[in-house]
Amino acid sequence: MIVIKLGGSVITDKRTEGKIRKRIIDRLIWEIKKSGEKFSIVHGAGSFGHIPAERYQLHRGLKERSQLEGFHLTHHSVRLLNSEVMKVLLKYHIPSVSISPLCFIEMRDRRIESIDLSKFDKALSMGLTPVSFGDVVFDSKRGFSICSGDDIVLHLALHFKPDKVVFIMDEDGIFDRDPKKYRNAKFLKDVRVDDLPSAEKSSYIDVTGGMRKKIDIIKRIANDGIDVYVVNGNKIGRVYGVLTGKKVKRTRVIGC
Ligand code: IPE
Repeated sequence: MIVIKLGGSVITDKRTEGKIRKRIIDRLIWEIKKSGEKFSIVHGAGSFGHIPAERYQLHRGLKERSQLEGFHLTHHSVRLLNSEVMKVLLKYHIPSVSISPLCFIEMRDRRIESIDLSKFDKALSMGLTPVSFGDVVFDSKRGFSICSGDDIVLHLALHFKPDKVVFIMDEDGIFDRDPKKYRNAKFLKDVRVDDLPSAEKSSYIDVTGGMRKKIDIIKRIANDGIDVYVVNGNKIGRVYGVLTGKKVKRTRVIGC
């Protein structure tokens, strides 16, 4: 089994609230289907989640009643994105089930406190592809918190020990520093956990909280012996290549 994270920056237009990239989703699901593998999918929220969550300051937890509308709106919006993904899975005859984080995760002070993966177990054992997503969830200290799809990927990986974990992003892979800021950033092709950029070594993961957290999660998965791939979903054929072990541009973090 392979755990796949469809990054929100690939499946949505990150700058425009609620703007979906339907053609990309269609092609990515087609590449996934063509690989013939068994998988679990987690997708990001992109502009469906990050923009309303930011507007209503949901990352701060429940501070005032007006945020409840933001909670409602954000959840509703990521469900809309999820239903688009489910529609494409149906189109390619991949029987799937959507599992909402609100129903199987509880957080405490922004960290996952309890997670129940039994529905994933059931789905996978009967041949259904479980699909989850980044969303708002209840938090026993803050009222609610934002649960990233990456956190769900981490727990799925540690529980199911998949053959590999694949992060589909809008970049070719991992660089030793931020490629958007440094033109001489070095691309990392096959890399050991110890050689991944760390907060001390580079500003790459210092300035972009998102990437910093992602690298931390990748390290934890690879340290559990699972290979982790980061691949550009905007480039045709790369996801298929990674899923089927073909030679394509990507970063492989070697499980140890
Ligand atoms: C974010 O999920 C969830 C919300 C903002 C509600 P992710 O962290 O998995 O989303 P992407 O991949 O960065 O868009």
